[in-house]
Amino acid sequence: MINPLRGMKDLIFDDSKKYQYIIQTASNIAKNYGYEYIETPILEETALFKRSVGESSDIIGKEMYQFRDKGDNDVCMRPEGTAGVVRAFISNKLDRQDANYRFYYHGSMFRYERPQKGRLRSFHQFGCESFKEASVYEDFMLISMIKDIFDALNIDFALKINSLGCKECMPLYRTKLVSFLENIKDDLCEDCNRRIATNPIRVLDCKNEKCQALLQTSPKLIDNLCDSCNNDFNKLRQLLNEANIPYEVDTNLVRGLDYYNKTAFEFISNNIGSQSAIAGGGRYDRLVEFLDGKPTPAVGFALGIERIMDLVAVPELNREGLYLGGMNEESINLLLQIARRQLKSQKVTIQYKPKSLKAHLRSADKAGAKAIGIIGDDELLSGTIWLKDLETKEEKTIKIEDF
Ligand code: HAM
Repeated sequence: MINPLRGMKDLIFDDSKKYQYIIQTASNIAKNYGYEYIETPILEETALFKRSVGESSDIIGKEMYQFRDKGDNDVCMRPEGTAGVVRAFISNKLDRQDANYRFYYHGSMFRYERPQKGRLRSFHQFGCESFKEASVYEDFMLISMIKDIFDALNIDFALKINSLGCKECMPLYRTKLVSFLENIKDDLCEDCNRRIATNPIRVLDCKNEKCQALLQTSPKLIDNLCDSCNNDFNKLRQLLNEANIPYEVDTNLVRGLDYYNKTAFEFISNNIGSQSAIAGGGRYDRLVEFLDGKPTPAVGFALGIERIMDLVAVPELNREGLYLGGMNEESINLLLQIARRQLKSQKVTIQYKPKSLKAHLRSADKAGAKAIGIIGDDELLSGTIWLKDLETKEEKTIKIEDF
């Protein structure tokens, strides 16, 4: 027997219902916020992810599903959605238009991680990316959208925010941080030591308790922001306060992808164990130009669908559609005719095998049908069908041509 690969799973029955429910809820809200659906390929050139997510990130360093295709192209299954959407934005020359573009997407992402609860190798994200709007109001609106989605799904969350500065203030901060880290480097873990050289900001995010204790006195990014970044961060805090959206400033929140600047945020759930981030995002004003587009400010987020699935109940589905069955072989042709007509306007479940009325009623219930139509021996003789509304319990027999 061939099983799914480690860290990959099928979405079936209750899981597929939850999946569709979450995607539908999030899509409707994103559309209200002015976002349009975009679909980009799962497979892209490896260079796209290296240049966007960043060579020093774990995703690129350790977790890529990367291979050479039959044309000897170096390709990669997407580990996240932003890079592909930015590539599409540039490929479609939208960077040269004088308009705002807002896209939402959902689909499978692939990271070769060590699987555990809430951490898969093939998982799904729902994401939004907004291009051309440099204002911090847009960052606020995205956070507000995520809150609306979680409220609609009845999910509790904690919101963490930080500012990662810009090309003016970030390099100065990095230099300060590196000199602090150089002084304590003998006591920091191996990973942190590697990162001091490659991506020192990521040291702040180390999960090792000893490192975290040493980092308590590190210089903080939000104390080193330039005026523009500082104003925007204060404005964001003010907007969140006014909207009554609770948040915590987490000065160690740096995100695992390299393309961010200014606002960074994460939504956490305290009800799903150690893999607690259920959404993450932020501003990435320089990514479009890094990928050879015209400089374009941008901001976005992605939700982790599997983690959210652990937090929502299977939605109660209303009874829907018609179940059709016969009690003799001869009725099947008539049932097929009725089914083909009814399918134009409602869901129809048709049972081809003759069964007793009791067995049909049981099957109709299982199929979640709202109504049942049965052709028994008497109905066959009189050209009629017996109908029952399974909600109101109302019954009637009508001529087939009157159906
Ligand atoms: P990310 O934080 O890497 O951001 O992923 C977003 C969410 O995807 C996480 O908060 C988590 O819920 C889920 N996730 C990540 N890895 C896994 C995994 N191995 N198994 C299950 N769920 C996972 C991004 O991907 C950015 N592209 C978000 C973004 C969009 N930033 C700007 N625009």
